[in-house]
Amino acid sequence: MVGSGGREHALAWRLAQGGGIQIYATPGNPGIASLATCLPVAQTDVAALASAAADLGIGLTVVGPEAPLAAGLADAFAAQGLKVFGPSAAAAQIEASKAFAKSLMRRWQIPTADFKAFDDSSDAISYVRRSSGRVVVKADGLAAGKGVVVARTAAEAETAVADFMVRRVHGPAGARVVIEECLDGEEASVLALVCGERVWPLVPVQDYKRAGDGDNGPNTGGMGAIAPAPLPGGLMGQVIDQILEPVAAAMAREGRPYTGVLYAGIMVTADGPKVLEFNCRFGDPEAQVILPLLQGSFADILLDVVDGRTPPLRWSTGAAACVVLASGGYPGHYRTGFPIAGLEQVPQDIRVFHAGTAVADARLVTAGGRVFNAVGLGPTLEGAVSRAYAGVAPILFDGMQYRSDIGRGIHTVRQAELASAPGGTE
Ligand code: AMP
Ligand code: GLY
Repeated sequence: MVGSGGREHALAWRLAQGGGIQIYATPGNPGIASLATCLPVAQTDVAALASAAADLGIGLTVVGPEAPLAAGLADAFAAQGLKVFGPSAAAAQIEASKAFAKSLMRRWQIPTADFKAFDDSSDAISYVRRSSGRVVVKADGLAAGKGVVVARTAAEAETAVADFMVRRVHGPAGARVVIEECLDGEEASVLALVCGERVWPLVPVQDYKRAGDGDNGPNTGGMGAIAPAPLPGGLMGQVIDQILEPVAAAMAREGRPYTGVLYAGIMVTADGPKVLEFNCRFGDPEAQVILPLLQGSFADILLDVVDGRTPPLRWSTGAAACVVLASGGYPGHYRTGFPIAGLEQVPQDIRVFHAGTAVADARLVTAGGRVFNAVGLGPTLEGAVSRAYAGVAPILFDGMQYRSDIGRGIHTVRQAELASAPGGTE
């Protein structure tokens, strides 16, 4: 298992539930260390990872974050005959280059916001000035979730273009930008297991991206999540038919067959679902609410996908909610190294995944922007949310912040929809 955040702790926890499985994590974190042997290998040193996996006789490597995949981890492993749950570098381009993803969608008529890509900042700026409506400016490459500006004015869009292309605030990721029309609607994250042209959707998730209650404040990696997301009836079918299956087919037909989990960030617009972005991995914190609802041996499910067999996807009937506990100041500047209290008072039924923690002088301390994820389960969404907050209550560290409205005040919650998880399709 490659990675070190809350998503990876959830992956390791779910893999360990299979029993009889020995897990090695690299680099891991203090939470993962209770389930796995942690090895100090850099996440993007794909050659070192491949030789470690070969030496240890690893049967399946599961990759959490996008960077090792974009760096060719799956290719290096395949060259040594090692199995990986995750796409090749060519297929990971669907996340690693927004211009690639957008042009793929255009070639295959997959619904997404209208766009134009630019390699020249003055062309991009004159396009912004000529645009009539609001625009969104995106750095082409990987920018740790910070490469998107939903501009309120043309001036803000121009500043974003200059920041990305001229000032290079995200380095080479901003050498090219995508400028797209601004869409209106509710967002949902729909992930699917994919092998070539075959697609097996997971339960839909709602991610809470903004730092503050009421969706105020800056965008973050995600401050919480709920699953199954209460989507309008029929929407899941549209996402599968119009987006997930066509994109898997497009990738295969363009010589970049996809293996792994494909994450579609969707805007539910008045014209139907449109793609905001694709990610080549599980979402964080989406994984933390999907995995507790998935039944059966997780390792076997992932092996089925890698080997091209239909995985048996069975879902609990209830719901899951995740509340992220973050360092004060996140996603901007924050301090780390604060001691953490109260973990042992968290009720037994609540899972606390470590996202950014470290052990210093035999004490657990904060070590990242997102520190913990409290995950509650329940027969209803309301029940899951209240269990997640029961997990938050005892935990304390200096500067701790979290949203108090995860899963609360959702307008379209209908019990019937919550109960209907998607079945697999091929
Ligand atoms: P992305 O990383 O591309 O998903 O963008 C991050 C966030 O920016 C999304 O979750 C949306 O909230 C917002 N966003 C991205 N593209 C658009 C768009 N075309 N219209 C409106 N909001 C967008
Ligand atoms: N939670 C959003 C992401 O993982 O990209």
